[in-house]
Amino acid sequence: RIVYVNGEYLPEEEATVSIFDRAFLMGDGVYEVTSVLGGKLIDFDGHAKRLARSLSELDMAEPCTMDELLQIHRELVARNEITDGLVYLQVSRGSAGDRDFVFPDPEVVKPTLVLFTQNKPGLDKDPKALKGTKIITVPDIRWHRRDIKTVQLLYPSMAKMMAKKAGCDDAWLVEDGFITEGSSNNAYIVKGNKIITRELSNDILHGITRAAVLRFAAEAQYEVEERNFTPEEATQADEAFTTSASAFVMPVVEIDGVTLGDGTPGSVSLRLREIYLDEMK
Ligand code: PDD
Repeated sequence: RIVYVNGEYLPEEEATVSIFDRAFLMGDGVYEVTSVLGGKLIDFDGHAKRLARSLSELDMAEPCTMDELLQIHRELVARNEITDGLVYLQVSRGSAGDRDFVFPDPEVVKPTLVLFTQNKPGLDKDPKALKGTKIITVPDIRWHRRDIKTVQLLYPSMAKMMAKKAGCDDAWLVEDGFITEGSSNNAYIVKGNKIITRELSNDILHGITRAAVLRFAAEAQYEVEERNFTPEEATQADEAFTTSASAFVMPVVEIDGVTLGDGTPGSVSLRLREIYLDEMK
């Protein structure tokens, strides 16, 4: 696999980053995941805009222009012959050659930019979408700037491990009695013709897939309600699903051991998945 590090395309074995890199020492970095279907980048503009926002919220310099970023994405997809898969991008504040809590001077220390691809043939045909996923709820103990897509993913990893140990696929996070979002996706419930998902704030990541799916849902005459919902309301819903760049629209069929509907993916969830994939491919 050919990867990109700070201006160079290299075989992955030859790509290196300093042990003093602040993403490594402090979690001082942000990332994006953009999917590729049929060789095409899905919603690159949305991901580029959110990256710019994450960087600006953390007073981090942009490593290059967004046009250059697009060129790097395309070059990696071509060099690695990716038809279906993902491009992972990470920007860290760089390495000042020592450990220090204080941000280094951006005039002296340049950001570290790393990109790599993941080949996932048939990414849009995941059999899980037809079977549906099982979710547990766990407390949301993350920091309070979840709108910034930082590489600090220890708790989301722990939440996924809790789900795995419980024989489930993923975890939804609960704060003050309400679902915030999934460990790596946005969370939705469906009641009749109505799609309910938490409103945007610093409590959740502003999903790029979320924005597109809510737009398509409104166009398809579904009612969209952006508000808090509890785990209890979720277990009583007709359907539930998640959205993310890597799994698109993924139906949920079980929450905390309670089966939703007849235990198969709901029709609204499946329809939204189909619309999303049709529109974006
Ligand atoms: N995760 N919420 C969280 C906490 C996320 O980590 C993600 C994405 C989303 C969905 O955002 P988007 O639709 O822009 O992918 C919501 C990525 C895919 C990941 O960490 O792999």
